[in-house]
Amino acid sequence: MIAQGLCVAVPTETVYGLAADATNAMAVAGIYAAKGRPGFNPLIVHVPDLEAAQTIAVFNEKARELAARYWPGPLTLVLPLRPDSAIASLATAGLPTIAVRAPAHPAMQALLKACGRPLAAPSANASGRISPTSAAHVLKSLGGRIPMVIDAGPTSHGLESTIVGVDERGALRLLRPGPIDLGLAASDGGAIEAPGQLASHYAPTKPLRLNATSAGSDEWLIGFGSVRGDASLSIAGDLVEAAARLFSALHEAEASDRPKIAVAPIPSAGLGIAINDRLKRAAA
Ligand code: TXA
Ligand code: MG
Repeated sequence: MIAQGLCVAVPTETVYGLAADATNAMAVAGIYAAKGRPGFNPLIVHVPDLEAAQTIAVFNEKARELAARYWPGPLTLVLPLRPDSAIASLATAGLPTIAVRAPAHPAMQALLKACGRPLAAPSANASGRISPTSAAHVLKSLGGRIPMVIDAGPTSHGLESTIVGVDERGALRLLRPGPIDLGLAASDGGAIEAPGQLASHYAPTKPLRLNATSAGSDEWLIGFGSVRGDASLSIAGDLVEAAARLFSALHEAEASDRPKIAVAPIPSAGLGIAINDRLKRAAA
């Protein structure tokens, strides 16, 4: 199922995750679609071990030390994304950093090894609901919207992993408190990195106009459905495809020879709400 680009709910030692191939943008878009997330938060990418993590993120000495000490386990590290990694930009919400963790749960470990690729996995609940610590919780919130749940009983921590950012100098920042206590205060030098704050990273360097049905001569038009444009998020008007293409389409528009960007109207339903949320932030 993972190889086909579908998402599967799977237990980790913290909470059940909704896992999909992190290198497949359509598969990652499927996670957002199933969860009904109102915005594209960057997701945690799961790997079997430090060796696999080093193929997608840049580890300095401090990061390597933390991984060696706490992995596999409920610690997520936010590190620079390797430019040569195959991770879909939708998984990191277009950020130059990536949240990675090696989970300890045997079911998740087995899945990671069987599919041989990194798995993006947020908690397997509908957006705004409580995180699931059993397969029954997953079904209550996502039943009918996902093809499969791997049931391995209740999770042991029941609380999402601790998230720590490690900067170039090895300084640590607690981004989300969790099962592993590194003795860092959440308010140290600023607050927990909220999705709203992350949003500023999305903004392209060129002005962006929304709901455009045609382009001015100085605009690169990102189309959707019947509005064709210079490139289209989805000629078929498919929102899952559009979500998968969103960040790469913005990058492409930014790299074009035209000084401005315009984007076709996207219907505000389902994943379209998340796409419009992102676009509005990019235009702000
Ligand atoms: O325990 C867990 O970590 C569970 C299980 C399934 O592994 N996963 C989980 O994922 O909680 P999710 O997607 O619900 O949490 C992702 C969090 C978000 O709060 C997001 O802001 C943060 O990770 N995050 C992801 N990438 C980030 C980045 N590059 N910089 C800062 N924060 C990031
Ligand atoms: Mg969550």
